[in-house]
Amino acid sequence: MATRKLFNGVEIPHIGMGTFGSDRFTAEQVSEGVYGAIKAGYRLIDCAAVYGNEDKIGESLERAFNDGLATRDEMFITSKVWNDMHGKGDVLLSCAKTLRDLKLDYLDMFFVHWPFPNYHAPGCDGDARNPDSRPFDKDEFIGVWRQMEKLVYMGLVRSLGMSNMTVAKLDAVLPLCRIRPVALQMELHPAFQQPVLFDYCVEKSIQPIGFCPIGSPTRPDRDKTEEDISAIEMPEIVAIAEAHEVHPAIVCLKWAIQRGQIPIPFSVVESEYESNLRCIDETPLSDDEMAQIKEADKGCRLIKGQVFLWEGANDWQDLWDEEA
Ligand SMILES: NC(=O)c1ccc[n+]([C@@H]2O[C@H](COP(=O)([O-])OP(=O)(O)OC[C@H]3O[C@@H](n4cnc5c(N)ncnc54)[C@H](OP(=O)(O)O)[C@@H]3O)[C@@H](O)[C@H]2O)c1
Repeated sequence: MATRKLFNGVEIPHIGMGTFGSDRFTAEQVSEGVYGAIKAGYRLIDCAAVYGNEDKIGESLERAFNDGLATRDEMFITSKVWNDMHGKGDVLLSCAKTLRDLKLDYLDMFFVHWPFPNYHAPGCDGDARNPDSRPFDKDEFIGVWRQMEKLVYMGLVRSLGMSNMTVAKLDAVLPLCRIRPVALQMELHPAFQQPVLFDYCVEKSIQPIGFCPIGSPTRPDRDKTEEDISAIEMPEIVAIAEAHEVHPAIVCLKWAIQRGQIPIPFSVVESEYESNLRCIDETPLSDDEMAQIKEADKGCRLIKGQVFLWEGANDWQDLWDEEA
């Protein structure tokens, strides 16, 4: 498996497997997919407590190790602390539960899933609001980050990452980090390329990890709006896919890897996750095709986060500091 080197010297695979079952796929299906993915050659698995399937994924990891498909040190396992576990001492509890569920004694990377403690009930609809939700607060975030840093000092976590940040939020917190994040999870696909945030990360040696790399066609209904643009239906992507005789999803992944982000596509379908992995070894996109895709950016954010809004907020743009 080809790898990229993070600024702390740690190697991370070029592509990973997502595990968000998206209210559509059961924990058992996702866990079976993880076993199949490791068998197919995946070495990076992206987990999160809120996906509600880490205990089942842990069974698959254990089975994969016992069956000799991979060793622990060949794998790169990530997880994320959910928004309801930001309080004092809670990050350690969250990490401990994730480790217990995944049946591991360390994580390769641990992310702060969202930069505020706002959370919604599982499966709620898009208009749901939690009265305790509040805007981003730098000091509150650093309180969480100090707990994350402790996990590294304790040997429970090897590297730290942030997720769903903006340039303004990173500018506010990076100078205060004792251990800097080596990676940022951000929504990245041909219809939402986030060039400003992407370039900012590259300049700071923070590795962008692209979620929803295929445009998340199976995302929950609460995250869908009529204005959304589907990456795999963009005419530019479809035309390039026809030229390469591949599914448009594969063009999205080739583009992602060649641009320099790490895509973490999700699928429980063997033929899909195998072809997603194989795309690294196939004919790359030409410079002209890469330029066409860059030009085709629609600035269309899919994961708007509206369920995290606080009372008094205008709309979901308030979560993103108007950068998109
Ligand atoms: N940090 C965060 O806040 C955050 C947010 C969102 C996601 N994530 C992570 O990123 C991962 C990926 O995002 P995602 O799951 O939302 O979206 P995604 O990977 O963009 O889309 C997944 C869907 O794409 C389709 N697909 C996958 N491979 C395909 C192929 N080769 N051909 C055709 N269709 C294919 C499948 O749908 P069909 O079943 O219709 O084929 C699958 O359900 C998540 O699983 C999660 O680990 C993180």
